[in-house]
Amino acid sequence: MIEVSNLTKRYGQKTAVQDLTFSVKPGRVTGFLGPNGAGKSTTMRMILGLDNPTTGHALVDGKPFADHQHPSRVAAALLDATWVHPSRPARAHLEAQAAYGNIPASRVNEVLDLVGLRQVAKKKVGGFSLGMRQRLGLASAMLGDPKVLMFDEPVNGLDPEGILWVRNFMKARAKEGRTVLVSSHLLSEMALTAEDLIVIGKGKLRAQTSVHDLVATQEATILVRTPDATAFAEVLRHNGFDPQSTGEAQQIAVKGKNIEQVGQLAFDNNVLLHQLYLDQPSLEQAFMALTQDDVEYRTGEPIADDAGQVGGGQAGAGQGAGGPVNPGQQFAPGQQNFPQQGGRR
Ligand SMILES: Nc1ncnc2c1ncn2[C@@H]1O[C@H](COP(=O)(O)OP(=O)(O)OP(=O)(O)O)[C@@H](O)[C@H]1O
Ligand SMILES: [Mg+2]
Repeated sequence: MIEVSNLTKRYGQKTAVQDLTFSVKPGRVTGFLGPNGAGKSTTMRMILGLDNPTTGHALVDGKPFADHQHPSRVAAALLDATWVHPSRPARAHLEAQAAYGNIPASRVNEVLDLVGLRQVAKKKVGGFSLGMRQRLGLASAMLGDPKVLMFDEPVNGLDPEGILWVRNFMKARAKEGRTVLVSSHLLSEMALTAEDLIVIGKGKLRAQTSVHDLVATQEATILVRTPDATAFAEVLRHNGFDPQSTGEAQQIAVKGKNIEQVGQLAFDNNVLLHQLYLDQPSLEQAFMALTQDDVEYRTGEPIADDAGQVGGGQAGAGQGAGGPVNPGQQFAPGQQNFPQQGGRR
């Protein structure tokens, strides 16, 4: 269990973390989300006593981390995988870490096996790829068999196999009853890994919730592709829907989940459909809606989503295969009218 109470950290004029209160439960993976500079790493450092809070406090397993008699058995973290002496072999690095933590050296082989690095244990860390370093960092965190684990962006730079491995690693550690707090900007990955979420922006708590509940704050979209788009938009309008342009030819979007009703209307009105698709909201959409005013480092460029569509500001990027709706854009056939930056607000 991690309990953070009214935690504030100021660096000179900059308030990195402001009055943050949350708790992280054992037995589940909790995602720690926030835009760049939101204060995630600072908060993790304060939980571990690596940075002193300006005010407030953080407890790990009921006490400030530094007050535990055997801290390496209580909590461990991977905050920066590159922070390893390059000329030390992996095994020597772990043996040194074990010695600092008063952990028997026999544990080194166990954690090397756990992360799949036994075969390269004699190799110098300087020759390791980023993924191998991440694995070494996870091994190091597991040395003391701690109850609480914190990982700061552990999947950065990993290949798909590595990302899947880290996801399963996190879930397995939570299943063992540990408290697992993990930060990441890969929201589709977080949606698969975490059950609970803590979302911060500009140092302040924006939400402590579950992935399910945060995603549920966003409305689903029904996407229709039809050669009779103009006529069908009219039918939809007459039946209480608010058809919107998606910017793609012959495609209409309406908010909601009632895909059956839309299909029935097409059938009743003799409209040929080429596509009828329920685009479920994603964690990415929900996160962006929640933190759009907290983004400090943003370019002037509009953001294009994976379907090549341009969304207004941050909130426009959708993950669904059908692409986002452009709210406020009435359906206008043949018109490629993209919203301007900030048009979704
Ligand atoms: N040692 C420091 N001295 C001064 N300012 C700092 C220091 N560490 C962090 N900050 C500032 O505190 C704020 C929060 O930084 P932090 O690294 O905690 O954010 P983050 O959420 O981890 O961001 P990212 O997603 O980019 O890793 C930033 O504005 C950062 O510049
Ligand atoms: Mg960080």
